[in-house]
Amino acid sequence: MAAHNLDTAEATGADAGVGGDKKRPLNVVVGVSGGIAAYKACHLVREFTEAGDSVRVVPTPSALNFVGAATFEALSGHHVDTEVFSRVDEVQHVRVGKEADLIVVAPATADTIARIAAGRANDLLTATVLVATCPVVLAPAMHTEMWENPATQDNVATLRRRGLIVLEPAHGRLTGKDTGPGRLSEASQIAAMARTIVAVGTFTRSLEGKKVVISAGGTQENIDPVRFIGNRSSGRQGFALADIAVHRGANVTIVAGDTDELETPPGAEIIRVRSTRDMKEAVDAAAVGADIVIMAAAVADYRPETEADSKLKKGQADDVLSTLRLVENPDILRGLVDKREAGETSATIVGFAAETDDPLENGRAKLARKGADMLMVNSVAGGKVFGELRNSGWLLGADGSTEDIEDGPKHVVAARMWDAIEKITSGDGESIRQD
Ligand code: CTP
Repeated sequence: MAAHNLDTAEATGADAGVGGDKKRPLNVVVGVSGGIAAYKACHLVREFTEAGDSVRVVPTPSALNFVGAATFEALSGHHVDTEVFSRVDEVQHVRVGKEADLIVVAPATADTIARIAAGRANDLLTATVLVATCPVVLAPAMHTEMWENPATQDNVATLRRRGLIVLEPAHGRLTGKDTGPGRLSEASQIAAMARTIVAVGTFTRSLEGKKVVISAGGTQENIDPVRFIGNRSSGRQGFALADIAVHRGANVTIVAGDTDELETPPGAEIIRVRSTRDMKEAVDAAAVGADIVIMAAAVADYRPETEADSKLKKGQADDVLSTLRLVENPDILRGLVDKREAGETSATIVGFAAETDDPLENGRAKLARKGADMLMVNSVAGGKVFGELRNSGWLLGADGSTEDIEDGPKHVVAARMWDAIEKITSGDGESIRQD
């Protein structure tokens, strides 16, 4: 078993351990089925071993056509078998599943999904899944036609109904020259979702049928073609909120400003914008008919009064550069609340508040000023939170409630936020706000 390295777990944002016991490494089974994306399973094994977890790789026999057993054995430090008749004296076909804290099948091909849905146990992987009582996460990878085939979609629906987590495949380049949904998500995305499920429990498709809009990242305001005013937002918290919403079944649109080099959450639509005014236009348009809007973006409050068409030169434009005149940008969140008051939307509106001083007092005042239903208040003293992998804070409700959101990876914080948002959102999408 790999030694648990808490430093690495911190660095990867991993919440290692089950039930809040951050010191206990997880017993993770990484199942690999036979598709070209099998090579990405090597990165997934690394994601877990580097966080200190013990990984047992269980490939299907055909997965070994793509990656050899020796690679998985070297990466995991455990022997690799594919058949139920290997190591019968150890009763492997039962023991591996029983001892697992988490099973992640990546890639999960159409055939493996079908066999799991049918309750088959004709190789070590399917037998392991059939025995397991721990969370089982499937990361599909196949051609778009196979993913969209009603046979596969029915199998996916069956598995989700039974409580297995079937992640959305990413949209992008497939084996050949074709592109579409069916690409295996990146290992870091799969690991983040799998860890969240272990930390918060398997969740249901509680947002099925809901239209959700999430802004993320920072807006940028141009001074000239090479300079801009920006901020340190990475977009991670907004993307994590989108990830969780997709997996709870929502139809998700992200309006993203500048973000770190983050992979787009699979299954979400993304609209890229730059300035605050661009973001307002995109959010307002996407909010039409939305049930929930979350403003997680760090929005530039001011922009330069004028944007120069060519680069402002030192020595020639000193007066402009040394005394930039700024004008106020529109408040996107306040604008949404105004639209709701005018009857143009009935969406539940959630914002963030980044505060360096007296976060609770300032957050409560901001919630009242903005008129949102809920505000996630972060203390950002010393640049904390921006760009980091973890977050914490307080969720303030317009009904006067305050919920502590304890420190955790941003995906876990996102899941906690969604639990609270779902509580205040009634079945017809009306908000709790009384005024
Ligand atoms: N926000 C917005 N439009 C703006 C500024 C902020 O929609 N022009 C949103 C943010 O996305 C966030 C919330 O309002 O959800 C609060 O943002 P924050 O920057 O904390 O507050 P400000 O209104 O900018 O107030 P201040 O800078 O005075 O703290």
